Amino acid sequence: MKIDFNYIRSPYDTKSCPIFFCEKSFTERPKKAVAYVTAIGVFDLIINGKKCGDSFFAPGWTSEKRVMFVKYDITKLLSVGKNTIAILAGNGYALGDISSHHYRENDKIHFFDNVAVAAHFDLTFENGVKERFDTDENWLIASSTVISSDFYQGELCDLTAPVTVFGKAEMDKGKKPAAVPFYGGHVIPHERLKAIKIITAPNGEKVIDFGQEIAGFVEINYKGNAGERIKLSHGEMLDKLGNFYNGNLQWAKAVTEYVLDGKQKIHRPHFTYQGFRYARIDEFPEENPAASMFTAVALYTEMEQTCSFSCSDERINKLFSNIIWGQKSNFTDVPTDCPQRSERFGWTGDSQVFCRTANINFDVKRFYDRWLTDMSLDQHDDGAIPCVIPAVFCGNISAGWGDAATVCPWETYLACGDKKFLSRHYPMMKKWVNYIETRAQNYGTPYLWAGDMHYGDWLAMDIENELLGSTQTDLIATAFYAYSALLCAKAAKFLGKTDDFIKYDGLYNSIREEFRKAFLKNGLPVVCPVADGDPKTPHPNVYSRHVSNDTQTAISLILNFDLCNDDERKTLAKRLSELVKEKGHLTTGFIGTPHILKALSDNGYPKQAYDLLLSDKMPSWLFPVTKGATTVWERWNGINENGDFADPDMNSFNHYAYGSVFSWIFDYAIGITVDDDGAGYNKIHIAPHPDKRIPEMQVEKKTPQGLIKVKFSVRNNSVEYKIEIPENCFATIVLPSGKTIGTNGKTSLTLTD
Ligand code: BGC
Repeated sequence: MKIDFNYIRSPYDTKSCPIFFCEKSFTERPKKAVAYVTAIGVFDLIINGKKCGDSFFAPGWTSEKRVMFVKYDITKLLSVGKNTIAILAGNGYALGDISSHHYRENDKIHFFDNVAVAAHFDLTFENGVKERFDTDENWLIASSTVISSDFYQGELCDLTAPVTVFGKAEMDKGKKPAAVPFYGGHVIPHERLKAIKIITAPNGEKVIDFGQEIAGFVEINYKGNAGERIKLSHGEMLDKLGNFYNGNLQWAKAVTEYVLDGKQKIHRPHFTYQGFRYARIDEFPEENPAASMFTAVALYTEMEQTCSFSCSDERINKLFSNIIWGQKSNFTDVPTDCPQRSERFGWTGDSQVFCRTANINFDVKRFYDRWLTDMSLDQHDDGAIPCVIPAVFCGNISAGWGDAATVCPWETYLACGDKKFLSRHYPMMKKWVNYIETRAQNYGTPYLWAGDMHYGDWLAMDIENELLGSTQTDLIATAFYAYSALLCAKAAKFLGKTDDFIKYDGLYNSIREEFRKAFLKNGLPVVCPVADGDPKTPHPNVYSRHVSNDTQTAISLILNFDLCNDDERKTLAKRLSELVKEKGHLTTGFIGTPHILKALSDNGYPKQAYDLLLSDKMPSWLFPVTKGATTVWERWNGINENGDFADPDMNSFNHYAYGSVFSWIFDYAIGITVDDDGAGYNKIHIAPHPDKRIPEMQVEKKTPQGLIKVKFSVRNNSVEYKIEIPENCFATIVLPSGKTIGTNGKTSLTLTD
């Protein structure tokens, strides 16, 4: 559906979020009334004082090259006589601080100049008469009680502020992106968490504890008297003394504030959300407000949870819950890195790392479909993928980040089985690989991606005080070059593109051979002299660190991307096992973490993989659990063993990347994997690998074919498996003894092995 929208803007300084409105009188109620609304900014459509729908932040966050419009059925909201049709608009993504990380050429801070709204209304009356109208220069502008609103900074609502009509709107003829119908799921309110308690912290501050970190807002139920104020600051943690902590929000203020009018009872912000578990009561009319006055409301995109998991180790259950909450609170319109500080960007690397787990936990096909389309719109002409999508921040074109362009389409295709989805995103996959090819050729090493600036193994703990970790960035880049070429080959195969398959399969094999020559010596990883560490490289800071490929991350990538031959595989696996033993823990960062357990378990060291999963010493997945985490942390050492916080400049307690460990629990421990030629869980393997230390484990996974259930219970000398497989799912069950059972269609089995 195509609509030529008439955008209007406000020529007045309303000192608040503007309301665009018109009045319409009807002698009879329309039989059907539909509104199509969009904005540069965010909006609420309000008819006769009532907000339409329950979604937040319409029209959603997309590349600046397009904007979505939202369709509302407003039939029931219109009445005979006078109707007020209003659009309350805020800066939102397009004009708020979130897109002001001024990186743009010619130093323009925002891509757009002003907030603008556009709407088209289609009414049909009982007698068949139709009435159509649009936003135009006869619409009026009024001030609102939403005095200021911004994702990072929060919101100020002054309910006592007079709503003043300023005059007529102005047509906005400025260039606007193409408008497309909204899709991909709205951000809507989900869980409502009652405040658990209000504590008086050691420093005397009153702090509300909701018991769970979420992304969303605090709803306040309090009437008060006109002119009284309520002010809340949001934070993720209490410090080691038990005081409220929000020192890690960078330049986000994350404050919501209300001036009461003595009439309205329920208060919630309009155009902002925060990542928080705690809210500090900075102002409140009463000395001791009741906890029951506060409810935390979780906001995230509509998506169905498709996986439930439990096991006999409560710490792992908590980890799973933290991973689920990490996903919920970072799937707000786009996959964000974190919901609290002044980032909240669609960081591609984080999504690359987490995408497999995201697809196991929820049905995220529509969500990724939209974000990946924005990625292709923001992809540069030469195929480069910006590090954040929508591209509102300019960082490195980095390996492991840009590869979201191949990994996310492929992983989502495996989960949903929709070839059209894959084919929609396939051109972007190819373009990304072609980009790497050109970069590699530029450096004179067609099969090695050597020399560019990357984020490396971000936040790895194999080197002190170095964000990139010590693994050579060129090794990571070349490994991902190979992997992305391989994914293009696989996609080409299933899309029937034979020439492409031959090209990318050949490319993968050539990269693989060059990789082995450059980075392996006697089966062990070495630093390749042409690459990272070359004095001619343009970014001396990045390369000045000590570089080593004798790292858990390097070996895990080589093993999982199959960049070695069989003999080398054995030597590498042994070395990986030694490295884990020597350190006694993992040292991987963003890049290595999703790979290390698989690299160990698939290559003869499953016990060590379980050791890492079950460790609760820093760094480990369970360490945050022992520290009371309710979401997944950005850093292994977000809180040190002594209770101190890590560097506040970059220390989020709600980053989903390390939650990628759940895909190992699902793929290896419970053992469900989708075959490449059985996307959508049409052909799967079920190969559970129990470990005595977690004697019970079960998963229920809703798939496009129906529900899969796998449960194991470790008994004295045997293990019992209960497996249920739906219709149209062809499963090969392989038990640890090697016993193999092929199933064809709906099956329910109890097996002992
Ligand atoms: C973000 C990450 C991101 C990284 C890039 C950080 O500030 O929060 O999650 O991937 O920068 O290295």
